[in-house]
Amino acid sequence: MAEGPSERLRSDSDARAARPTAHGPARGGDRRPGVQARSPRPQNSDRPGSGTQARPEPRLRPEPLTLPEPPAAPAEVLLHLLATGELELVGRLPGSSNNALLGIVRGPEPAGRSSASTAATPTSARLEAPVVYKPIAGERPLWDFPDGTLAHRELAAYLLSAAAGWGIVPPTVVRTGPFGPGMVQLWVPADPSVDRVALVVGADPRLRPIALFDVVANNADRKVGHLIPTREGTILGVDHGICFHVEPKLRTVLWAWRGERLTTEERDRLACLADLLREDLAVELGEHLAPAEVAALRRRAEGLLERPCFPEPDPDRPAIPWPPY
Ligand SMILES: Nc1ncnc2c1ncn2[C@@H]1O[C@H](COP(=O)(O)OP(=O)(O)O)[C@@H](O)[C@H]1O
Ligand SMILES: [Mg+2]
Repeated sequence: MAEGPSERLRSDSDARAARPTAHGPARGGDRRPGVQARSPRPQNSDRPGSGTQARPEPRLRPEPLTLPEPPAAPAEVLLHLLATGELELVGRLPGSSNNALLGIVRGPEPAGRSSASTAATPTSARLEAPVVYKPIAGERPLWDFPDGTLAHRELAAYLLSAAAGWGIVPPTVVRTGPFGPGMVQLWVPADPSVDRVALVVGADPRLRPIALFDVVANNADRKVGHLIPTREGTILGVDHGICFHVEPKLRTVLWAWRGERLTTEERDRLACLADLLREDLAVELGEHLAPAEVAALRRRAEGLLERPCFPEPDPDRPAIPWPPY
């Protein structure tokens, strides 16, 4: 049935953020009727309703799944490996709303990086890294974000985090994989001994830069599970597919610093970022975001410099993604 023009649909992002009601929490998954992602679905997608197609499944390994450790290499080496390495799919992220897959990328180690890559053994050194791969064809359509753009938003989030020196987002690229173009991001294993809810409730200071990043990126989906406490003691952020909208959509569990004044270090970082957003970074992000989204990003950075405080939740919008984990 066609959708009437006056019918107001909630986006998946809004649905996920909906507040609990007397009838319990609103359910996610309000799929936009009749809308297909711009890119064709993968032939062997196992999305509901696609069961009649031939299904050349990727070769998935039996449990337990053992992933290699992320290599200790500079970002440019990791980015090159993610972009050019051979991508083998080894599993799926259960419950992923965007058909996220787990894989391993393998490629030659750049010359001169290890003792193995000497003149005696010029081609023997290989690097491998665990990755998450989100094919654009598997993205769930949302009414308020253009179809087929989430992978590019994830890459834009990485570029923003790296340019500002935040180091929040693991190395990320957009490349072609077994199911077509998609986002490929380094998989950074979370430290299982860390209680992420306790980090959030306890306002762990390592989360404050992520809270600021989310304000700048206009992140509509900062859940507890999108925080990765690493074994090295840092905290990373993942799943930035619904960032950078031109309209305010900040939804986050990181409200501990609401109303607090930004530090000098935070303001300096934002000032550098605003400069970059008037120059090279704007050009780079323009390959992944709409011009209006890049302009809105710059305005958010400038706005924080004019009024250097963490925002308060907007009483007219859901402030917390739902479910929050
Ligand atoms: N790069 C990553 N490194 C480590 N864990 C990750 C990474 N990306 C995702 N995850 C974990 O997998 C879960 C699902 O991935 P997510 O990106 O949230 O998928 P979806 O788009 O389906 O919501 C996340 O909540 C997080 O715990
Ligand atoms: Mg997620």
